Amino acid sequence: MNGNLIIKNASELVTCSGFAAKKGREMSELHVIPDGAVVIKAGTIDAVGTTGDIDAALEKSGADLAGFDIIDATNKAVLPGFVDSHTHFVFGGYRAQEFSWRLRGDSYMEIMERGGGIANTVQATRKATANELLQAGIKRLDSMLAFGVTTVEGKSGYGLDQETEIKQLEVINHLDGIHYVDIVPTFLGAHAVPADFKGRADDFIDFLMEKVLPVAAERKLAAYCDIFCEKKVFSVEQSRRYLSRAKDLGFKIKLHADEIVQLGGAELAAELEATSADHLLQASDEGIRQMAQAGVIATLLPGTAFSLKETYARARFMIDSHCAVALATDFNPGSCFSESIPLIFALATLYMGITTEEAVSALTINGAAALDRADVIGSLDVGKHGDLVVLEYPSYKFIPYHIGVSTVEKVVKNGNLVFDKEKGGMKYC
Ligand code: NIG
Ligand code: FE
Repeated sequence: MNGNLIIKNASELVTCSGFAAKKGREMSELHVIPDGAVVIKAGTIDAVGTTGDIDAALEKSGADLAGFDIIDATNKAVLPGFVDSHTHFVFGGYRAQEFSWRLRGDSYMEIMERGGGIANTVQATRKATANELLQAGIKRLDSMLAFGVTTVEGKSGYGLDQETEIKQLEVINHLDGIHYVDIVPTFLGAHAVPADFKGRADDFIDFLMEKVLPVAAERKLAAYCDIFCEKKVFSVEQSRRYLSRAKDLGFKIKLHADEIVQLGGAELAAELEATSADHLLQASDEGIRQMAQAGVIATLLPGTAFSLKETYARARFMIDSHCAVALATDFNPGSCFSESIPLIFALATLYMGITTEEAVSALTINGAAALDRADVIGSLDVGKHGDLVVLEYPSYKFIPYHIGVSTVEKVVKNGNLVFDKEKGGMKYC
């Protein structure tokens, strides 16, 4: 595991080249190198080109190749590792019963209003020990890695009290240290109003601002601060007050915005220059235009719209309005219990008017940008982390075409092969 690797003969080396979010039409530009090769040295991409050019350069430099692993990717496409930039993967308990109720016709918000939903998971997460959350987290990260995810965002938000919110963030940070998948932590204490603050959302916001945010900031437990800005949860005014304070404390900003009701979350994201606004099923034309202008990434979560049987976010309009769109799973125990990247590709391309090229950009470079990491991950460019996937098929076009099935054969993280379906799907630990 020295991070030295050469991949050769890839039928398509899909570089997604770039160091910032791709907006609008730029999302179609994948920068594909036929018969491509990539050299990774000590975990960092050292050279990218055609196999002929890379071979010639290696020969000319007289580089000693003894310390390099070689992967022959003949007839296989190679892409950057996927970046899942919105998940809630650390939680206790499950909500299969609520899924059945939703199949029967109950809505997500009805279940939430009668004390189920997020509150249900809060109870289970408060009860769970840190080690139980850690073990569940490892299993979920293993599954994500097999889908080709090399970086994931993980939110707190199932504690809604100081102790459990901090416990969740500690577990997320611990997982980042022990698992191949890199994790970007987000503090989502403002995910719902807990029972002991019922009817007093402003007081709960004050509590978070005074007691929990400063601890999370001081201990550097999270890069982002997020809020569920939604009718009957937190208003635009409460969200503005809370996120402004979070910004002052050094957090970058995300919002669950305009998911169920058009509340003005997209406009608020633009006003606060948030890194991303997420969901956006009901975002207004004006909100989308303001986001494009302010450079706020529109993170769309089709798995959630699918699972809740809601109308999909207007991805086509957003891209045509020059927005940068990212796609993510929103993996969580309630509104989308799925970490499936193939499902996201299928829904985005078949139901949201997103092309395969745009979907690839949305799950690589734009996912990276939604985590402010487009300078170091999300594309196969020299100087970036050696994070990539090798497909079992010759073209990236097979990703949505092989509907709902993972096309990922190998996953490389920092130049090390960490998952290989050819070796029985086992991860090297
Ligand atoms: O992104 N909308 C709010 N939060 C999550 C769902 C969390 C849950 O139901 O547990 C979401 O959909
Ligand atoms: Fe979410």
